[in-house]
Amino acid sequence: MVGEVAVSGAKNAAVAIIPAVLLSDGICRIENVPAISDVNVIIKILYELGAYVKVIDNTTVEIDPTHINSHILSASMSSKMRASSYFIGAMLGRFKKAKVAPPGGCDFGVRPIDQHIKGFEALGATVTIDGGMVHAHASELVGSSIYLDKVSVGATVNIMLAAVKARGLTIIENAAREPHIVDLANFLNSMGANIMGAGTDVIKIRGVSSLHGTTYSVIPDQIEAGTYMLAAAITGGDLTITNVIPKHLESISAKLIECGAEVIEYDEAVRVIMNRRPKTCNVLTMPHPGFPTDMQPQMTTLLALSDGVSVMTEGVWDNRFKYVDQLTLMGAKIKVDGKVAIINGVERLSAAPVKATDLRAGAAMVLAGLAADGKTEIENVEFIDRGYDNIVEKLSAVGADIRRVTYIDPLTSRSAV
Ligand code: UD1
Repeated sequence: MVGEVAVSGAKNAAVAIIPAVLLSDGICRIENVPAISDVNVIIKILYELGAYVKVIDNTTVEIDPTHINSHILSASMSSKMRASSYFIGAMLGRFKKAKVAPPGGCDFGVRPIDQHIKGFEALGATVTIDGGMVHAHASELVGSSIYLDKVSVGATVNIMLAAVKARGLTIIENAAREPHIVDLANFLNSMGANIMGAGTDVIKIRGVSSLHGTTYSVIPDQIEAGTYMLAAAITGGDLTITNVIPKHLESISAKLIECGAEVIEYDEAVRVIMNRRPKTCNVLTMPHPGFPTDMQPQMTTLLALSDGVSVMTEGVWDNRFKYVDQLTLMGAKIKVDGKVAIINGVERLSAAPVKATDLRAGAAMVLAGLAADGKTEIENVEFIDRGYDNIVEKLSAVGADIRRVTYIDPLTSRSAV
């Protein structure tokens, strides 16, 4: 594949920023919003809660949250995605109370929210789980020091949301440092918040009494960019990926270079050129700035075609190798033992009917399909639509032979790429 691919706004930033709008006393205009189903779901939740939502164009939305007066998120609203848990922090921050059904999202094993709850309690909230709902309430939220026992993106976001209007200073130690944490802090600061240190492991939040409307542009998606970088590598191609922040891609670039790719960085683009079979490399996924767990299935797929044995260790989630069975159907030789996959590179993958078992696993199937001999059919592509804006159109434009097919099943309607 040869050409240019433009990256959309970051899913994980957008799904934190949009619930954060709830904390504003005015209209927020959010730009560079990706056209993906997770974002549609989160906007719909705000709309159902009573926000006025105006879609300005494909990537811009204006949200007026001032009419929202509900602090309840039902199971039908929250079960579709993990980020619905951010409404607990946002509602606590705005109403001092929240009643939210436990979040959904990709299934990587246990997905606890104990660190979120620890943070809310430190700020003075009482949190109970009753009737399948998380109830949180406080007469007043007061700043506090919170040490996260585990680096958690979700807990860091949620505590920031609850603390931004609390009285006094909140300090989050061992905070997550992902680019979307920084983006959320920048968004909140653009509304008048006082947050320092985002991007380091100590975030200081001095509470303010109110937040005003703002205009804000979401950062580019690190994982979408990384996926297209790997698309170049796995097809022996030459792709320039534009609208990126190269700094966010360093861990991915480093591993691609180890695999034999040439990676050229520009101000807002990276070019990946691969003209050999991938070399082996060992990868350990870690919180940022480590190699992202959300690139693990895609990287494993590249290594499945490498010229020897590689080891992929999943350092964040307990159970994120379910997709390996699907790769095996395409001829990959991978043995999984708990959080470690031993990948015996093969020369070729061959097409097979496979399933997207979750969002990034779905992206991995697309990469495998691009590299495989023959026509690969991927089922359950709605997982891919959760996080990839127009993936079929973007890949077709750089030479991939890929299309979306909709099967009409008499019982369920399934779509396949
Ligand atoms: C976010 C991302 C997800 C990514 C993950 C790790 C969003 C919407 N999703 O998920 O794509 O894979 O970060 O980069 O941004 N944990 C606890 N207790 C808690 C919270 C988490 O033990 O209260 C553990 C989890 O089980 C996991 C690890 O901490 O092992 C990281 O989880 P976390 O960073 O919270 O992931 P999410 O925010 O759910």
